[in-house]
Amino acid sequence: MSKNILVTGGAGYVGSHTCKALAAAGYIPVVYDSLVQGFDWAVRWGPFEHGDVRDGVRLREVFAKYQPAALFHFAGFIAVGESVEKPDLYYDNNINGLLSTLKIARGFRVRQVVFSSSAAIYGNPDETQIAEDHPKNILNPYAATKSLSEQILADYDRAFGLRSVSLRYFNAAGADAEGETGEAHSPETHLIPLAFRAIYDPGFTLSIFGNDYDTPDGTAVRDYVHVTDLADAHLRALKYLEAGGATTALNLGSGRGYSIREILEAIEKVTGKPVPAIDAPRRAGDPAVLAADIKKAEKILGWKPGYSDLETIVKTAGAWEKGRWAGKFPKPLRSK
Ligand code: UFG
Repeated sequence: MSKNILVTGGAGYVGSHTCKALAAAGYIPVVYDSLVQGFDWAVRWGPFEHGDVRDGVRLREVFAKYQPAALFHFAGFIAVGESVEKPDLYYDNNINGLLSTLKIARGFRVRQVVFSSSAAIYGNPDETQIAEDHPKNILNPYAATKSLSEQILADYDRAFGLRSVSLRYFNAAGADAEGETGEAHSPETHLIPLAFRAIYDPGFTLSIFGNDYDTPDGTAVRDYVHVTDLADAHLRALKYLEAGGATTALNLGSGRGYSIREILEAIEKVTGKPVPAIDAPRRAGDPAVLAADIKKAEKILGWKPGYSDLETIVKTAGAWEKGRWAGKFPKPLRSK
């Protein structure tokens, strides 16, 4: 019989791609989402239950109904700048939300958790290629919530035998190759969707934040990892836990960085259109270079990014953005 997997935040970007991967592997992803950041159209691969992760009563109903075998916890706010202005919101949603979900999960004897963490916990790194043992350097409340969540999960393993894999994403990018889901944030702050916006929205010009970094072309370098590769890593993390794997935290990136100008060139090559852009001052808190050392995830999960070359990222993101700007969104396939 197929196992139910409870996916909080499953109507979001990485969550929805992961639901597709879970369903393809024979699991039933049960999405639990408040739809504050997630989207109805992104729930296509299993049942949907509306609710907030801080609502223990609602969570208990959903756990009782589906008796999930494992928990995937994506639900959380993700905007670094907003977290500085509204730390109360971030600690409440990201920390209280995790605690209340884990409390109910424990009550229903769920002992396996896959958690969405972030490379934001490394702050301004000392090295350009970051491994998991790089010191944490917490620069904002968002990063603090991810770091504390990892700590909570490690403590819950020691005390309650609840094993977990925390996946530290670098720059999630790209979209489902079949166009069934893709990136959407409100407001959008990420480079690649905004570069496409500059192409499709005549009233918008991309700002390139900083052209004087100590990098080959002066613009910041990031490690962009395809969301389908992230989804595959989540599935592998579940199988690792099912096989008895120990609690761990893993970097997920492509293993190499690209500058902003390299990204824009790739977009121009794929679309044949110029990306209207202007040079602007640096954005506060941005490090010059961030790239992942992904050897640990490769070794522990047997994971290898297959979609994270720049061309595939830009082509899949481009197809998705073209549809969005034409007003096309996928239709939910799930039953209400
Ligand atoms: N950038 C621009 N113009 C824009 C938007 C972004 O030049 O309009 C630049 C940024 O300054 C940065 C690069 O493009 O140098 C990538 O920026 P994103 O906002 O797309 O992503 P970040 O690297 O800032 O953030 C990502 C995740 C965060 C996470 C962080 C940790 O979105 O959640 O990586 O590595 F915290």
